Amino acid sequence: MSPQNTLASPPNTHLAAAHASAAARDAALPLRGRVAVVTGASSGIGEAAAETLAGLGAHVVALARRAERLAELVARVEKNGGRALAIAADVTDPAAVRAAADRVAAELGGADLLLNNAGVMLPAPIEELATDQWQRQIDLNVTGLMNVTGAFTPQLVAAAAERGVADLVNTSSIAAQNIFPTFAVYSGTKAYVTHFSRHLRTELGPKNVRVAAIEPGIVGTELQSHVTDEGARAWLADARESMEWLTPQDVADTIGFLVSLPPRVNLQQVTVMPTGQAS
Ligand SMILES: NC(=O)c1ccc[n+]([C@@H]2O[C@H](COP(=O)([O-])OP(=O)(O)OC[C@H]3O[C@@H](n4cnc5c(N)ncnc54)[C@H](OP(=O)(O)O)[C@@H]3O)[C@@H](O)[C@H]2O)c1
Repeated sequence: MSPQNTLASPPNTHLAAAHASAAARDAALPLRGRVAVVTGASSGIGEAAAETLAGLGAHVVALARRAERLAELVARVEKNGGRALAIAADVTDPAAVRAAADRVAAELGGADLLLNNAGVMLPAPIEELATDQWQRQIDLNVTGLMNVTGAFTPQLVAAAAERGVADLVNTSSIAAQNIFPTFAVYSGTKAYVTHFSRHLRTELGPKNVRVAAIEPGIVGTELQSHVTDEGARAWLADARESMEWLTPQDVADTIGFLVSLPPRVNLQQVTVMPTGQAS
């Protein structure tokens, strides 16, 4: 036997090794080849989710108003070997959202994963008539979510028709189920998100678009810093003392899990709570 023959592996061994390494890569990067749009990506849950989805292989489109925060996120993703595009846009502006969707279609061929996550929480007793805060919550949590849903659903449906799966994940809240004073408007907007998601699923599921509502309990983010009502601020301060809150990464990992499941599996409503939070 020649030395070459002694050292060379049979061709089948090479093939098996190549298959094994491709399988290992695909298992580590289950979202490889996918385009994930994340709204509210400049902080909190959206920021962590954008980094997590990029780490799982998706080309992430990070959308929010603060351009400099998005640029920092893109730099971090790229430093870790991922791919991301920042689009600074206000989701309450339908024209800006449509322009963002057109750009995603032109530059990346369209989205097949949407995390509809931008939101604001401004609890206050109803008798204070904080109508500007009511409006801000409805404009962002309901109308903004609808602007984004409308602009990207055609891309999700087209991607699912072509590749067999797409994901629409809406960030709702435990507030969608909770009964709690001073949170009526916020809870109403989140009940909308959960109920909307359940209904939409019956339309889009048959088209291979998985629709999910994710309902976190308390997560430490910038969300609490916008609260102006003293009673709600005191309640949040107590809650911070009495239990360990979720981190944005906890929720991001949950989202990463549900979009990495086989296409036939759709977790339609996922409530993720701090262990110490009763309801
Ligand atoms: N933290 C919690 O305890 C908790 C619990 C349950 C559910 N949630 C939900 O989780 C989602 C994310 O909240 P978070 O806790 O991560 O809070 P956060 O850190 O305040 O993040 C909110 C995100 O929304 C973006 N945003 C706000 N207004 C926007 C607009 N008009 N257009 C585009 N983007 C806008 C913000 O970015 P810019 O300011 O740069 O635009 C930011 O990236 C929300 O829907 C919230 O209701 C949070």
